[in-house]
Amino acid sequence: MAKLAPEPVMLATPTAVRAQVAAWRTAGERIALVPTMGALHAGHLALVEAAKAQADRVLVSIFVNPTQFAPHEDFDQYPRHLDRDLQALSTLGVDGIYTPTRALMYPQGHQTTVSVSGVAHPMEGEYRPHFFSGVATIVAKLFIQCAPDLAVFGEKDYQQLLVIRQMARDLDLPVTVVGHPTVREADGLALSSRNAYLSVDQRAVAAHLPQTLHHIAAGLAAGKAFADFEKEAKERLRAVGFEPPDYLDFRDAETLEPLDRATWPGRLLVAAKLGQTRLIDNLAVPVVVP
Ligand code: PAJ
Repeated sequence: MAKLAPEPVMLATPTAVRAQVAAWRTAGERIALVPTMGALHAGHLALVEAAKAQADRVLVSIFVNPTQFAPHEDFDQYPRHLDRDLQALSTLGVDGIYTPTRALMYPQGHQTTVSVSGVAHPMEGEYRPHFFSGVATIVAKLFIQCAPDLAVFGEKDYQQLLVIRQMARDLDLPVTVVGHPTVREADGLALSSRNAYLSVDQRAVAAHLPQTLHHIAAGLAAGKAFADFEKEAKERLRAVGFEPPDYLDFRDAETLEPLDRATWPGRLLVAAKLGQTRLIDNLAVPVVVP
């Protein structure tokens, strides 16, 4: 009979998480953190598996962070399936699950915000101005409370990954920020908790987003300029039912400065709404050797 992993330790307060991590560290163990907002899917679970491969102890946090949602966004509707999440994490054999409350994370009188410039400014930073300060603040708090050796984030939220790396570097937080490739459905759509908002018809159309990125990447690989594709690609998305994209950009994979040709490691990044649901995706573009 297969050996059952011990049940994860449930941790509900910063004090409890600190004590647990200190005990693991005293035992000489390496600790990985996987921050999430719950509604876990196979993308999140892949981060957990990557964390397990690189650490002795894996801690997963589940907290729907109010400060990264604008008042008109979906904080109230955001999917919450705590029982199902706990079951999935328990089956995977994580060591700890941290589920702080809003009152513990943002007690009355909380006044500090972490704000990153540079990589946080374009794209998501432009269309969701509150978003990265909310993310950087909560992730800084999680890093300080949990003191992990490493933390795993998905490339699905590529700009977020760069913002968190920058924040950890600038605040001298001794955490290695590890990026993990995007996990996708069979038709290429990136897994996302927000895919649950899509109707059956919208779900069928959604795969055009990654397909469009692949189409542009193929052109860039053939030595063409991004400008040759931008207009056509936006029209193509419109034609299948997307709203005009908030952005469809080709950028330096590290600085997020605009690029035109694949002469440097680049990234294609897109955000577009399908009905009320805003989808984001991105794709690495390797350098073309002339
Ligand atoms: P959430 O959207 O729950 O995502 C948690 C982590 O899972 C993030 O690092 C995200 O990039 C990763 N992820 C989501 N979908 C993925 C996919 N298809 N493939 C690979 N990784 C994927 O991102 C957040 O929460 C929050 O902003 C958070 C960092 C927890 C701060 O509140």
